[in-house]
Amino acid sequence: MRLSHHLALLGTALACLATPVQAAEKAEVLHWWTSGSESAAVNEFKKAFNAAGGEWTDAAVAGGGGETARAVGINRIIGGNPTTAMQFNTSQQFYELIDKGLLQTLDDVAAKDNWAKVINPVIYSAVSKNGHVYAAPVNIHSNVWLWFSPAALKKAGVEAPKTWDDLFKDLDALKKAGIIPLAQSGDAWTQNLTFMNVLIGAGGPELYLKIFKDRDVNAIKSPEFKKVADILAKMRDYLDEGMQGRQWNQAISLVITGQAGFNFMGDWAKGEVVVAGKVPGTDVGCIPGLGKSSYWIGGDVFVFPKQKDAGALKAQELLAHVLLSPETQVAFNNKKGSAPVRADVDTSTMDACGKQGVALLGSGAFVPGSDMLVNPDVAGQLNDLAGTFFSDKSKTAADFVDGLAKIVSSQ
Ligand code: BGC
Repeated sequence: MRLSHHLALLGTALACLATPVQAAEKAEVLHWWTSGSESAAVNEFKKAFNAAGGEWTDAAVAGGGGETARAVGINRIIGGNPTTAMQFNTSQQFYELIDKGLLQTLDDVAAKDNWAKVINPVIYSAVSKNGHVYAAPVNIHSNVWLWFSPAALKKAGVEAPKTWDDLFKDLDALKKAGIIPLAQSGDAWTQNLTFMNVLIGAGGPELYLKIFKDRDVNAIKSPEFKKVADILAKMRDYLDEGMQGRQWNQAISLVITGQAGFNFMGDWAKGEVVVAGKVPGTDVGCIPGLGKSSYWIGGDVFVFPKQKDAGALKAQELLAHVLLSPETQVAFNNKKGSAPVRADVDTSTMDACGKQGVALLGSGAFVPGSDMLVNPDVAGQLNDLAGTFFSDKSKTAADFVDGLAKIVSSQ
């Protein structure tokens, strides 16, 4: 080979070195979004991350509410094999990991992207601890929605309820018409969410805050709370046999198809309405807290466990940046049924139910979710209390009051 040819080859090789192909930032992401709408929504994250030079590996762990996924993720962290990112609710669920020094802080990306200014303040404070940011919040969900089928109500000859008395009249009419009055899931976390719905809608946000923020046991013994427990007890007369073993998405699906009248569920249910090709607010009605409308601020975050490989931080920061970018926020949240965590994105394309939620947030009619106010141990006890109450009708309203008083006073 002639020297000039050698030199030409060398030149090409050097040129390749000068513009190396950028290695993708790899991220294994653990989450529990496996229903139809949840998968569609998380896919928006995956697309955006890959488009930004990342390589997303999905580590989905099935189980609505995420109890199993959180256990798997925490085990991996403790076992020294953490995923790059992991989902939690916007809550105290990851505070112990922070205290043990197992999570990466996101201070740099948060400062660069101005999170303190653009993120809803309740959410921003939930992801900050000891002056550091420890999680990337991705949405705002409210657990306290009542969904209904206008078609089923019409068949039963009744209207959408405005009060709790109306609701019971509707439930009676649905029962008479041979339609499942109240489609619930058998999972304990969904029964606790129903309890929060009744507490806030019938008892009101002040009563809720007295109990979970002030830990006021007298509030639990009050006549106002007795009314809440009575409603909850009565509700058990309208459940169907199929409840046990039913997942949350199957419960809302019964309302979407008009086989059931009502379902208490967070606004991720709206994602299922959309994925079924129906219009929230028209084909499926929504009430954000029957009676005393309020938004229960919760949702989801991703934390970034510390890694052995120092280079992993780049992928973590890229992912945190992408999850909160305005375009990704809109694309993800429209599919998820939640509101964006950023106040500076366009919400005009939101459906009628989403707009109601955003209006409540804007008007100050909101409370921090109970998972932000109590630790995961107490949250677990609340799930057990509500789950047992719904599956065992021998438990009375007074038993429920005593059970809650015990949990709250032991904190
Ligand atoms: C999460 C939602 C999720 C729901 C059901 C909730 O804890 O906040 O994002 O859709 O569980 O899986």
